Amino acid sequence: MPSVPGAVPERPVPTGRVATKAVIPAAGLGTRFLPATKAVPKELLPVVDKPALQYIVEEAASAGLTDVLLVTGRGKSSMVDHFDRRPDLELQLEAADKKELLDAIRRPCELASIHTSRQSEPLGLGHAVLCAAAHVGRQPFAVMLGDDLIDERDPLLPRMLELQAETGGIVVALIEVSRERTSLYGIATTSPTDQEDIVTISGLVEKPDPDEAPSNLAVIGRYVLPGEIFDVLETTQPGRGGEIQLTDAIAAMAEAGTPVHGVLFRGRRYDTGDRQSYLRAVVQLACDREDLGPDFRKWLTDFVGGGFGSGSEGGS
Ligand code: UTP
Repeated sequence: MPSVPGAVPERPVPTGRVATKAVIPAAGLGTRFLPATKAVPKELLPVVDKPALQYIVEEAASAGLTDVLLVTGRGKSSMVDHFDRRPDLELQLEAADKKELLDAIRRPCELASIHTSRQSEPLGLGHAVLCAAAHVGRQPFAVMLGDDLIDERDPLLPRMLELQAETGGIVVALIEVSRERTSLYGIATTSPTDQEDIVTISGLVEKPDPDEAPSNLAVIGRYVLPGEIFDVLETTQPGRGGEIQLTDAIAAMAEAGTPVHGVLFRGRRYDTGDRQSYLRAVVQLACDREDLGPDFRKWLTDFVGGGFGSGSEGGS
């Protein structure tokens, strides 16, 4: 496990208080989606008809996290506009009696109170989280990555928030991956607990080669962290890829005795971080939609079968 130079981190104690703030690091460069992300933030790419970021804020709000901090960077301030009112557009939609669209554009503004902090340079996820220190203070908080969409029918955060309040430590979300894919994730060294969906974590390693991976349990983009993590991030040195890694700070706290648990997630999740998974996410979510799904599925079946769906006839 990597160690961090500097003072031994303060060991957090259980407070019984459930986190109320969510931090969404969104200052990355989105290089895997260039050129689309040259001027449009990756977080605003539409997944069917909503930006990925709105799904994340909706998930936060349904878990009771109605104070949301977006960590933004250069060229990414349009993300915040999505959560603002648009009186001009509202007036037009009202005049045209387009009630559903009116509700759809108002909804993002009603979900949560949105705050921002700026990461002046993309020095890594750990550094982005550190940019939330002044807003969060010493309380526990959730970190939610915009690339991971968790299906609202399979809530994950409430279980994580509850566990963090009980232990006072760190809680991460884990999924099982095939051995060949360990080099794409942070991988945990775990031992079982008496609860089937919770494991204790004794170590984490960022993107190990399959033959060096301690398990096939991979960390996905949801964390509930104690405020003490900021002290550790202050002294965390750049790690893999020259970036300040959140995984390294978590590993250092684990080494210093902070309890770290993983909640095993077996629900529906959509990765929107690269082109291949993004395309799958859009198709899966479109197929599930009551309004679009039936027609879209039919078209898709025909298209895959090489039928008329492969032609140019559009839909509504
Ligand atoms: P990623 O590495 O997946 O996102 O970081 P990225 O850097 O934007 O995308 P690629 O790899 O170049 O295509 C995970 C999350 O952490 C944020 C990103 O915005 C993303 O939501 N992040 C990453 C920051 O906010 N700051 C950073 O310095 C690095």
